[in-house]
Amino acid sequence: MTVPESFQQFVLPTYGRFPLVPVRGEGTRLWDENGRSYLDFCTGIAVCSLGHAHPRLTEAICKQAATLLHVSNLYQIPQQAELARVIVEDHVKVPGKVFFSNSGAEANDGLVKTARRFGHQRPQADGSPRYEVLTFNQSFHGRTLGGIAATGQDKVKEGFDPMLPGFRHLPFNDIAALQNAIRPETVAILLEPIQGEGGVNVVKADFLTAIAELCRKHDLLLFFDEVQAGFGRCGDAMAWRTISPDLHVDGISWAKGMGGGVPIGAFWVSDRAINDAGTALSSLMGPGSHGSTYGGNPLVCAASLAVLAEITEKDLAGNARRQEQRIRETVAAWNLPIVTEVRGKGLLLGIGIDASKVEVPTGKTAALVLVNKAMELGLLIVPAGPETIRLLPPLNVTDAEVDEALAILREVLATLEGPGVRG
Ligand SMILES: Cc1ncc(COP(=O)(O)O)c(C=O)c1O
Repeated sequence: MTVPESFQQFVLPTYGRFPLVPVRGEGTRLWDENGRSYLDFCTGIAVCSLGHAHPRLTEAICKQAATLLHVSNLYQIPQQAELARVIVEDHVKVPGKVFFSNSGAEANDGLVKTARRFGHQRPQADGSPRYEVLTFNQSFHGRTLGGIAATGQDKVKEGFDPMLPGFRHLPFNDIAALQNAIRPETVAILLEPIQGEGGVNVVKADFLTAIAELCRKHDLLLFFDEVQAGFGRCGDAMAWRTISPDLHVDGISWAKGMGGGVPIGAFWVSDRAINDAGTALSSLMGPGSHGSTYGGNPLVCAASLAVLAEITEKDLAGNARRQEQRIRETVAAWNLPIVTEVRGKGLLLGIGIDASKVEVPTGKTAALVLVNKAMELGLLIVPAGPETIRLLPPLNVTDAEVDEALAILREVLATLEGPGVRG
């Protein structure tokens, strides 16, 4: 039985999978079962920040696995304490506390639970708790029941009614709509500073300023979902700082790139006082309020410590900014009519495609056609919505690898059938 045949027979068909069977990776390269190599600008969808089989990460994992793989969160796990310290002191740089989950969706669930606790502490005028979290159209916050309720895309909710109540989705970057949407039960605003799955849409600085003002005025919590965008990918440890550096944030969620491939997520909650008595926001999630068997175990924390140390010491956020510039300049120089724009920050970049210039088979999208053609030529990229392709190379990608990937991409675009592409 081939691997795809085993998938068909034994694995729930929740993903439309490409036929690729990856078996080995090194740096930005991935090899399939037939020994063919690919340049990996997908990286497990923004997960492998250091590329594949990075020696520092591999060593940290092997060493920790040989020492102590897992113990309960009933005990004081040194690697977890150190990782929380590094995240708070070196990356967020605002006093607060961290909870470790296993995924991004779980991290977002934790933020939503924090918002609800806050809504009990700071209720509506009639004493009933506030609970409503505002999110945005085209957002993606994960696949748990909380995650799909928070997500501003109908496709993730289909057939799963009734949704968890307490969410409303608003147009992204629309200040007036947000001002009008806040009501007595509203307690928090949750957004991706750069929407990844929804098409690589960057939040506008004035929208962020308006959000922060409304949060202050209406006593709302401001949460960022940096599951895809965080820890260097967008050119700064905190993606929101690339847009609005001085913002006051109450909570942040992460996963993906912080582990470089081990399943780890986290959310941070500010230590700021929420009342005159000085109650810290972070104290609302007290003993018994939340938990996870695996979350923050020695193995994943040791791995994440190695990943974050490498990102910091090698200034990989700086590399992300530099490569963004190189990619933008090269794509602009192609001057291809099929490219509508380049969006995003750092190495979370989307290239918008004029779908009218692509022959799209029924049931497929222009982005998918491009992704398949790129794979045929040895480059792995990902769609972000129907008309955007996404580039998510490792943060330590080299100039030569970026140039090689762009040459393939140029060929993909130039060989696509349809008017206006050739030449
Ligand atoms: C912004 C964002 N939030 C949450 C998630 C969910 O993360 P996970 O798949 O680890 O649950 C994702 C995954 O793509 C994401 O991009």
